[in-house]
Amino acid sequence: MARDEAASPFRLDGRRALITGAGGGIGQALARTFKAAGATVIGADREESLLDNVALDRRAVFDVTDREAAAAAINRLEAAGAAPDIVVSNAGRTRAETLDAVDGAVWERELAINLTGAYNVVSPALAAMARRGGGAIVFIATVNALAHYGNPAYAAAKAGLVAYAKAIAVERGAAGVRANVICPGSVRTPAWDHRLQRAPDILDRVLPHYPLGRLVTPDEVAKAALFLASDGASGITGAVLAVDAGLTAGNLRFVNDVLGRG
Ligand SMILES: NC(=O)c1ccc[n+]([C@@H]2O[C@H](COP(=O)([O-])OP(=O)(O)OC[C@H]3O[C@@H](n4cnc5c(N)ncnc54)[C@H](O)[C@@H]3O)[C@@H](O)[C@H]2O)c1
Repeated sequence: MARDEAASPFRLDGRRALITGAGGGIGQALARTFKAAGATVIGADREESLLDNVALDRRAVFDVTDREAAAAAINRLEAAGAAPDIVVSNAGRTRAETLDAVDGAVWERELAINLTGAYNVVSPALAAMARRGGGAIVFIATVNALAHYGNPAYAAAKAGLVAYAKAIAVERGAAGVRANVICPGSVRTPAWDHRLQRAPDILDRVLPHYPLGRLVTPDEVAKAALFLASDGASGITGAVLAVDAGLTAGNLRFVNDVLGRG
């Protein structure tokens, strides 16, 4: 068998992957998983120290809400011959749990990080990909983009990523660029620390909503992102993949509480 035929379509050898939010819980799993699949990994975060414990081939330090800084970072990579073949837009954050916590400033802040911040990175990288004839983009959104589970401004921003990914899929498919979205359910990462401080039993209250009876892990999100970034998903673009332990498949508590198990 020829060498190319034997190669797994899920390997990323020879590809450069830029991962934003690489210092976070899911970001570190993405960096680990993409590196293990053979990619050259460029980790980006808003502070250098956040990347200290992550094995990376290259670092890019910028705040995704700073459009000029994000574009400059992508331009520097391209000028160094290190333009990314893959972007995983993973940086994100929410603090406003319900509508009562949302005012104009909060709305703007959560959209700036979670929607415009993704645009600020992906847009220049996408232009470079189109110039070079191809690439793959994976957005880490959330189940909140699909139905309401709280965090209204964050949810609106993440739903915007679904629309943005579909626009890229349709308008840049001819340039060889694919764009897809992952919607994770709850994942125990530092993003939950502030909730756990407020309510130490909060994860016990989350579990009855999940058909698999557990949360998904950062590694499970990363493996799904690897699939969508790889040639194993060469025919998939504009798709939305829930990695959510079954949360969006239906309403487990309704079935249990209203209909009973018998
Ligand atoms: N943890 C969950 O339950 C969960 C569920 C669904 C989706 N997500 C999404 O997964 C992604 C990763 O989240 P996580 O759970 O690993 O959280 P995390 O807080 O551990 O990591 C988020 C990372 O994004 C970076 N970041 C935040 N704002 C930034 C900015 N303005 N500029 C640059 N970098 C910035 C942080 O520094 C951090 O390294 C986020 O987009 C989040 O919305 C998380």
